[in-house]
Amino acid sequence: MTPRLTNGALAASSEASVDSETISGLIKDDVNRFRVHSSVYIDPTLFNLEIQRIFERSWIFVAHEEMIPECGNYITTSLGKQPIIVSRGSDGDIHVLFNRCAHRGSVVCREERGHSDVFRCPYHGWVFANNGQLVGAAQRSGYPEDFLDWDLRLEPVPRVDMYRGLIFANLDPATPPLSERLEGVRSYIDLWCERSPKGTLRLPEGVQRYEFPANWKLQAENGVDGYHGNYVHESFVELLERSGERSADRTTKARNTVGAVNFAKGLPCGDGLLEREEGMLGTFDYRSREDYREKLETAYGVKRADDIMMQRNIFIFPNLFLFESHIRVIHPVRADKSYIDVHPTYLRGAGDVLNAERLSQHECFFGPSGFGAPDDIEIFACVQSGAAASGSPWLEFSRGMHRETTNNEGETVGHSTDETPQRSLYREWLRRMLNNGSHEGSLQ
Ligand code: FES
Ligand SMILES: [Fe+2]
Repeated sequence: MTPRLTNGALAASSEASVDSETISGLIKDDVNRFRVHSSVYIDPTLFNLEIQRIFERSWIFVAHEEMIPECGNYITTSLGKQPIIVSRGSDGDIHVLFNRCAHRGSVVCREERGHSDVFRCPYHGWVFANNGQLVGAAQRSGYPEDFLDWDLRLEPVPRVDMYRGLIFANLDPATPPLSERLEGVRSYIDLWCERSPKGTLRLPEGVQRYEFPANWKLQAENGVDGYHGNYVHESFVELLERSGERSADRTTKARNTVGAVNFAKGLPCGDGLLEREEGMLGTFDYRSREDYREKLETAYGVKRADDIMMQRNIFIFPNLFLFESHIRVIHPVRADKSYIDVHPTYLRGAGDVLNAERLSQHECFFGPSGFGAPDDIEIFACVQSGAAASGSPWLEFSRGMHRETTNNEGETVGHSTDETPQRSLYREWLRRMLNNGSHEGSLQ
């Protein structure tokens, strides 16, 4: 796609790199008004910079440990543009390896997931153990005796760490630890995990994957956008009313209420949160399940159980969502192409009946033929096309800026329909895009 050069804001975009002044000019962060230049969705040079400066220099979610529960399980995915394998070795340890043959560079494993003690390269047949070690080569006599000592292997990704089953990896060896990175969002991850009375999740095998012709940030913005639901998902709200499940009036009232727990929050590091007592579409209604509530109260106490049952969409910059029913991962492909992996979850200790109902609720809204995800995808494509039109290049992200506050935890808090988390996302985006050569924590 041709870079958009409106107003000269991206005059340098056709060059190999974009200078800091140009990047700074893409965000207008004024009093009560916040604007983003639409080139951030469209420009391929900016997209390449995002891969280098954000995706290949951040703690990126690569798998949940329950995706590889047994020794020998593996999945393949990517870290920025770099193909990787996440495997559980024969010793039970988790390995995150570059999916790159030590011989002449071919991707070694082409499956999306599976079970194997070894990976055999499709090009000349070199064989690597699932911890990355080279263990053999085809026509071995072509190499000397000490060949296996040559330090050839599937290279490990420099940094790997895990929090509550979420495995993150980072290409930057000098990055601050994951625990530091997750400080501002950790309490919400805990609440998300504790929807399980045992505090742990199980993942059914398989993934719902969908691709869309639009920029990755459209999904990042949308997952914590509490403004669009009444309009984009109007048909679903009507369906709930017609089925007798919930009146449209109750749904919209819950979403529009001011003064209750009905927040959009901007967290440190570009993270964000949508938080409601009720009215989040596609979310399981826990509060009416007395038996489940009792289990939570027994495990965590009455007050904590209440907090756990709050409805939340949690965004972890740049590409991970913890939704009530699932883990959602955004994969950027090009400026105008992305795909999403949706991993539904089961709650350990919540019982098969509740887990089945919860999954069914998930499928109804978020599933491939559900009533929610396809509507959102359609809107992403609409924005990608519309934002490229002539006229003003600016996108408005000002909603609620005049009324948001900062709480004791340092979180910026707006009404759930405000664009508070999106502003947090773009402030971090700008900081990271300007932070060439330094790791993600260097300016915090
Ligand atoms: S490139 Fe892998 S064996 Fe040759
Ligand atoms: Fe939506």
